[in-house]
Amino acid sequence: MTQDTLEKPDEILQLEFNRWAAAGEGEKMESHHLDITLKTLRLMELAPGQRVLDLGCGAGWATRLLAQAVAADGASSTEVSSDQVVSSQVVGLDVSDEMIRLARETSGGFSNVQYVCGSAMQIPWQDSFFDRVLSVESFYYYPDQNRALQELYRVMAPGGRLFILINLYTDNEYSLQWVDKLKVPVHVRSAAEYVEMLQRHGFRNAESRQIPDDTPTPDDYKTKSFNSLEDLRAFKRKGALLLMATKPL
Ligand SMILES: C[S@@+](CC[C@H](N)C(=O)[O-])C[C@H]1O[C@@H](n2cnc3c(N)ncnc32)[C@H](O)[C@@H]1O
Repeated sequence: MTQDTLEKPDEILQLEFNRWAAAGEGEKMESHHLDITLKTLRLMELAPGQRVLDLGCGAGWATRLLAQAVAADGASSTEVSSDQVVSSQVVGLDVSDEMIRLARETSGGFSNVQYVCGSAMQIPWQDSFFDRVLSVESFYYYPDQNRALQELYRVMAPGGRLFILINLYTDNEYSLQWVDKLKVPVHVRSAAEYVEMLQRHGFRNAESRQIPDDTPTPDDYKTKSFNSLEDLRAFKRKGALLLMATKPL
């Protein structure tokens, strides 16, 4: 795919996710993705001073959790001295300028966080920079996932670790109910296909695991994405796909 053919898909994604932001979905996604994200953060071995990318950061709630985790002593960056603050750096990147606006508005107290509007297709950052990358529920929207992996490999530091959470994948058959409800094209792949892609792009220790969502679903919950509450509960029990990989030293 050439640069020209990729620009339009990114514009379509920007329009669609700007609509989500205007409809309040940016903040709502925190409650939908928090449980699986907290479980992922525990696997990331986050440490003070690390440089972290949150790819497809949306309204920035996970970016702020990352910022707390890599600030000195896990404290919010506002609570630590300025020499400690400069050592950690967390970047939230999203193609939707409205999501980025929301994220900036709600992250005022975090001096180790920066939000950037841009695409996974061409990550506006220098080579070999990030020690950790997190991407929550964003990867299957990318117009060219191979190009996104090339870009991730480029911006990650040697030894850096990649963590991608995906709720839409063939091994969780309940997730396939939403494909027709989405207004933008998506990729629907299996865990095995994704692991193979990571390996093909030079990542080491590529593996996948399923992360169940233990958030209870109340009996009066209204779901537009699933055919029934039982399907939603079954989807959560099977859980999200977590892809993990390392850029070699
Ligand atoms: C389902 S939302 C998840 C947002 C956030 N990670 C969360 O869990 O709340 C998907 C996000 O991916 C972003 N996104 C989609 N395509 C993108 C691309 N090509 N580059 C960067 N971000 C993209 C969207 O703008 C949107 O904010």
